Amino acid sequence: MSPLFTAFLLLAAMASAAPLRPEFYFRTCPEAELIVRKVMRKAMIREPRSVASVMRFQFHDCFVNGCDASVLLDDTSTMLGEKLALSNINSLRSYEVIDEIKEKLEKVCPGTVSCADIIVMAARDAVALTGGPDWKVKLGRQDSLTASQEDSNNIMPSPRANASLLIDLFARFNLSIKDLVALSGSHSIGQARCFSIVFRLYNQSGTGKPDPTIEPRYRQKLNELCPLGGDGNVTGDLDATPTTFDNVYFEDLVAGRGFLNSDQTLFTFPQTSEYVRLFSKDQHAFFKAFVEGMIKMGDLQSGRPGEIRTNCRVVNSRRPVDVHFES
Ligand code: HEM
Ligand SMILES: *[C@@H]1O[C@H](CO)[C@@H](O)[C@H](O)[C@H]1NC(C)=O
Ligand SMILES: *[C@@H]1O[C@H](CO)[C@@H](O)[C@H](O)[C@H]1NC(C)=O
Ligand SMILES: *[C@@H]1O[C@H](CO)[C@@H](O)[C@H](O)[C@H]1NC(C)=O
Ligand SMILES: *[C@@H]1O[C@H](CO)[C@@H](O)[C@H](O)[C@H]1NC(C)=O
Repeated sequence: MSPLFTAFLLLAAMASAAPLRPEFYFRTCPEAELIVRKVMRKAMIREPRSVASVMRFQFHDCFVNGCDASVLLDDTSTMLGEKLALSNINSLRSYEVIDEIKEKLEKVCPGTVSCADIIVMAARDAVALTGGPDWKVKLGRQDSLTASQEDSNNIMPSPRANASLLIDLFARFNLSIKDLVALSGSHSIGQARCFSIVFRLYNQSGTGKPDPTIEPRYRQKLNELCPLGGDGNVTGDLDATPTTFDNVYFEDLVAGRGFLNSDQTLFTFPQTSEYVRLFSKDQHAFFKAFVEGMIKMGDLQSGRPGEIRTNCRVVNSRRPVDVHFES
């Protein structure tokens, strides 16, 4: 190899981590994707909602310092992790499904498949298993050595957010308005808590009144589910078909039946409403835009050194160098 070419390779390696690619585990763990899908299918049979909960990890992981499984790290005595951050506490769930996938993978190909890649594979499987599109995911991510509760608090959007705030947030990650609307379509599956909507039912933007964009009969239903002063942990469906990945979410938005303020606002604001209308009429266009958005979101990387964790909840222990004392 010429010295010039060697220098080029070195520079290329320094400029960015190895590019992600679908074949990353073909040689080192050929069964990886099969194993992930098998555990996800089992989880779905056990509890249909769990696959939606697992899919949400990709958003909450990738937006906070890249797709590096930082969201899965438990707090330690020296680190406040992301699990108790504002958007995650009492809300992110089904961590045990990721644990089960990791345990199976560690048996078959120890120390090989990153937790960050597990999240991306499992999110794709959640969509495919509930009737949505299936696609090839890029792999080869590494797991972070740290997590940041503060970064999660600063970045992750509130369910109260309006479309203009969400457009700006997604733009910071090079995600377009179309990406924002399509990715919000992930709320085609899963549930949310009364805690996330009581403000819009009883005191939208501090007006002391409900959000006027909620369709009246749907509001009546939400009032019964989430009475003022009731249990904030009660959950409701994010769309009319919460175990099927389809474009009913967008039909619901057009009808004023969005669950979260951050959902309904996509139809209220002119910059986003055209995409809501399009996806409500054309499921194929939604699926195509959704897959593009998921791939872009999965490309977000931290650029920091990482590892392949053996347990997704903790960083690998660094064994201190053995010291021998002779007597
Ligand atoms: C656009 C900004 C977004 C906001 C403001 C938002 C907010 C929320 C909130 C507040 C909940 C319910 C939390 C609770 O009450 O416990 C939720 C649930 C969910 N989110 Fe989002 N989200 C957004 C985008 C996304 C994206 C991009 C994805 C994935 C690609 C996603 C996937 C999900 C899923 C699947 C659920 C249901 C989880 C379950 O049933 O456990 N969300 N989201
Ligand atoms: C959207 O929300 C932000 C933050 O709460 C607020 O400052 C802004 O005025 C809102 N934009 C519109 C157009 O309502
Ligand atoms: C967004 O794109 C710009 C220009 O290509 C790039 O410099 C920047 O790093 C990207 N930001 C993210 C968060 O990927
Ligand atoms: C509604 O919210 C505003 C501002 O957040 C607050 O000052 C007011 O007390 C609230 N009203 C009710 C009825 O909760
Ligand atoms: C939901 O339940 C958790 C755990 O039991 C509790 O700590 C929290 O305060 C509850 N949240 C709401 C909004 O009621």
